[in-house]
Parts: sequence; structure tokens; C-alpha cells
Amino acid sequence: TPPEVLVIGSVNADLVVRVPHHPRPGETVLGADLVVHPGGKGANQAVAAARLGARVAFAGRVGSDAYGPMLLDSLRGAGVDTALVGVSDGASGVAMITVDDAGENAIAVSPGANATVLPAAMAQVEAVLATVPVVVTQLEIPDEAVDWLLRLGRAHGTRVVVNPSPGPWRTSDDNVAACDPLVVNRIEAAEILGMPSFGGTPDEALAALRTWRDRPLRPKSVVVTLGGDGAVLFDGDGEPVHVPAAKVAPVDTTGAGDAFTGALAWRLARGDGLADAVRLAVRVGAAATTRAGAQSSYPTLAELAERAPENIL
Ligand code: RIB
Ligand code: NA
Repeated sequence: TPPEVLVIGSVNADLVVRVPHHPRPGETVLGADLVVHPGGKGANQAVAAARLGARVAFAGRVGSDAYGPMLLDSLRGAGVDTALVGVSDGASGVAMITVDDAGENAIAVSPGANATVLPAAMAQVEAVLATVPVVVTQLEIPDEAVDWLLRLGRAHGTRVVVNPSPGPWRTSDDNVAACDPLVVNRIEAAEILGMPSFGGTPDEALAALRTWRDRPLRPKSVVVTLGGDGAVLFDGDGEPVHVPAAKVAPVDTTGAGDAFTGALAWRLARGDGLADAVRLAVRVGAAATTRAGAQSSYPTLAELAERAPENIL
């Protein structure tokens, strides 16, 4: 059976230290024992969808170092098809992460093998992309790989979900217009769509979406994530919608956005409308903040039902 979702992107070893507060420039902070988690925005999105029951293929590259096998194991353990994962000589992607007492993270990423995720190294991707309903990507791989995917998406009629993080995303208006949806936080939204920045309340975000929706050149659909306030979205010419989030006490927000995007892509592949897909994604994102790490915190559908029955469609 062919995959429902193809994720192309990064895979990182997350080196995590819990700290009382994030170090300021020049400051040293003593933290807890180092924990190494499998991460990377692309791999996280793939694992999030697979844990929910999606058939997922992941395309990317790990290094020839000791992290490579650990990162592949995590993908495979979640049931992700890794036939399109290559190995580059040298280091895997590594993320240096501190997580504070509020569960907020600060991350510095060294791309390592992710920098070699280039069209030339991805020759087999096109054949898979042509068979899937939804492909997902983010910006921890070279920009030209993302541009290439959007081109392939247009050529094959495959829906391309783009989470342009971390920014900035330097790309063409045509590429922005091809995102379906563009999944952004409010800072990225203002930057990419060239609009004034807006406040983080749902009402402010809805008002901003209304102005974007009426622009001649804009993505087919947009989802703006609002953290604890859920997300707002518009789909084509429809009215913008706010999807609230249930209140949770966050332990570690690392990778919650990736869980959101992975869940969203899966529901879109199953034929949900965008608002319904966002409803599930908001809940998966919230659940991911209640446990440590990124991939290690992602719920199965059964866990989601147990912890919050109203979460299930
Ligand atoms: O979005 C969270 C991810 O960002 C982490 O897993 C880390 O690897 C960085 O890529
Ligand atoms: Na988490």
C-alpha cells in the first residue's frame, strides 16, 4: 500500500538540558543531566503522523556518525517508511536545546547531513510524490529543495503543506501561492505575507487573516498557530475560523508545532476539510506539550482518546 503522507525534511539528534532559565548572552546556567532525543522538524512531523496511524514515508539524510542509526530507529519504530533516507559522510543534524521550568525551549541547530538534502540527492522522491495525496516540508533543509518540491507538487497535482520554519523563507510569490496550507506562527505569517505584525489574540489573528485572504496573491490556504490559543485558518475564499485549544500544563513544548503539522497532513490526506484537520491537529499539539522531548511525546490515537475523549473526530 502506498503512503498517505510523504514528509521531506530534517532529522536531528536533540541534545536537551533542562535549566531553571535559559542562559542570556555571556551567562552560564547549571542544568540537569543531558538527554538525547530523536528530533528534527521533518522527522518529527513524520513520526507524529505515523503514531496516529498514518502510512508515512520520510525522505531526508542522516550522517555516518553514531546518531544516524538512533535517528533511523526512531523513525522505523514509529512505522515510518525510511527507504528514501540516505546517509551522508559526516555528522548528523544536531539541535542544542535548553528547556526551562515553564516548558519553553531555546534551540540552536547544526544542519549536518540535512544540508545535503538537495534535489540531486533525492532522485527517487518524485516517483513517490506522484502517488501520495499530501507532501509536507519545512526549512531545516536547503531552500532549493523546498522550491523543487513545490514545483513537483504543481506538476503532479500533489497537495504541498509547507511549514516554513525556521525562517526567514526567501522564495517566490508563486511558491507562497502554491502552499496548501502554509502553516506558520504569527511572526512567520507577517514576514512571509509582507503584512504588518499583529497581536497574538485569536481576534487579532482573525482580523489579519481577513486582510490576507483578500489579496490577489496568497496561499491557497493558511493556518496560523497561536500556541495555547489554538490556531486560526482560512481555506480558499472561505471565512477565517478560530479553533481553540484545551488548556494543558506544558512540560516541554519542543516539537509541539511539528506534531500539529504531522497530524494536520494526515487528516488532509484522509480527506478532511482544513478546519476539521486543524481541530485534531490542535489537540495533538497540546498533548505533545505534556511530555518530554519531541517524538517521544507524540500520542497515538488511543492515547488521545483516553486523555481527552472530545479530541476524537
Ligand atoms: O521543532 C522542534 C525541533 O526543532 C527539534 O526536534 C529540533 O531538532 C529542531 O529541529
Ligand atoms: Na514535548
